Amino acid sequence: MEQRSYPKVTVVGAGNVGASTALLLMLKDLADVVMIDVAEGLAKGKALDIMHMRSNERFGPVIQGTADYADTVNSDIMVVTAGVPRKPGMTREDLLDVNAGIVSQVIDNALSYSPNAIYIFVTNPLDVMTNLAYRLSGLPKQRLMGMGGVLDTARFTYAIAEQTGANPGQIDALVIGAHGEAMLPLPRFSKVDGKPISELLDADSIDRVVENTIKGGAAVVELLQTGSAFYAPASSIVAMIESILRDDGRILSTCALLEGEYGIEGVYMCVPTLLGPEGVKEIVELDLQEEERVQLQASAASIRASVEALSV
Ligand code: APR
Repeated sequence: MEQRSYPKVTVVGAGNVGASTALLLMLKDLADVVMIDVAEGLAKGKALDIMHMRSNERFGPVIQGTADYADTVNSDIMVVTAGVPRKPGMTREDLLDVNAGIVSQVIDNALSYSPNAIYIFVTNPLDVMTNLAYRLSGLPKQRLMGMGGVLDTARFTYAIAEQTGANPGQIDALVIGAHGEAMLPLPRFSKVDGKPISELLDADSIDRVVENTIKGGAAVVELLQTGSAFYAPASSIVAMIESILRDDGRILSTCALLEGEYGIEGVYMCVPTLLGPEGVKEIVELDLQEEERVQLQASAASIRASVEALSV
């Protein structure tokens, strides 16, 4: 019998984002994975398919597909990607309520089996879902977070690399705020080889880079036609999990609860954080200029309004 020597990560939702996350966790030897979905065959089939890779890829952990939450018991980390995409005839508010219903159902089912896990929410609209999950779950703020800023930062890094010709490894970029149109890429805090991009690019080029970042997700949707991005979202989830498990001291833009930081009270949104085995260890407070601060507070107000409009 195989002995368990890896942390246990449950991925809720075996769709594009969930299965890609599970695959990366396997390939990077990070965790045993339970992938759970209401579509039982989908979760079981994808898990079996990944296990068939094992002899080629020689990864250590194992993956199991299921529709039964009992299999998720004592997870160290729960990643929630369950949700539905928008369908013809549905308004954005309909989608919001449908996904809010799914998220609340997932919390009901998952919490009793893994009350001590760190929860990472991914379902969109991310900021609203993470705020809702905090309200419904009663989990401590350190152990509940959302994935959004890491993905936006990855897209910002890509756009800077395209514009400057630099290698992504030379770039240290940051996006904070809402995970959507109101996100806040921060050129002042984004550097190539330690130099702020404001010293390397003119104002028009910076505007273009910022716009490409904000529209990065929509560009993928437009090309795919049938769904939204999943490889970069999965990679961003795994970056957070890696940082949590390894306590590696990376600063990652995480959707975390603000309680006075940046002058914002009681709202989850993306800010620079240090993650570790206890979850969100620290929120890093940047010295924002007045204009950046005002934009961040406007983001917070719009997230708060959407959360208050929820019927769940
Ligand atoms: N419990 C478990 N799984 C569920 C539930 C539920 N209550 N409701 C739906 N699912 C599953 C679906 O069966 C589907 O397999 O969630 C999966 C979603 O997968 P996709 O439709 O492929 O969506 P995906 O691209 O993975 O995106 C998932 O992440 O980035 C966000 O905006 C995206 O909210 C979306 C989520």
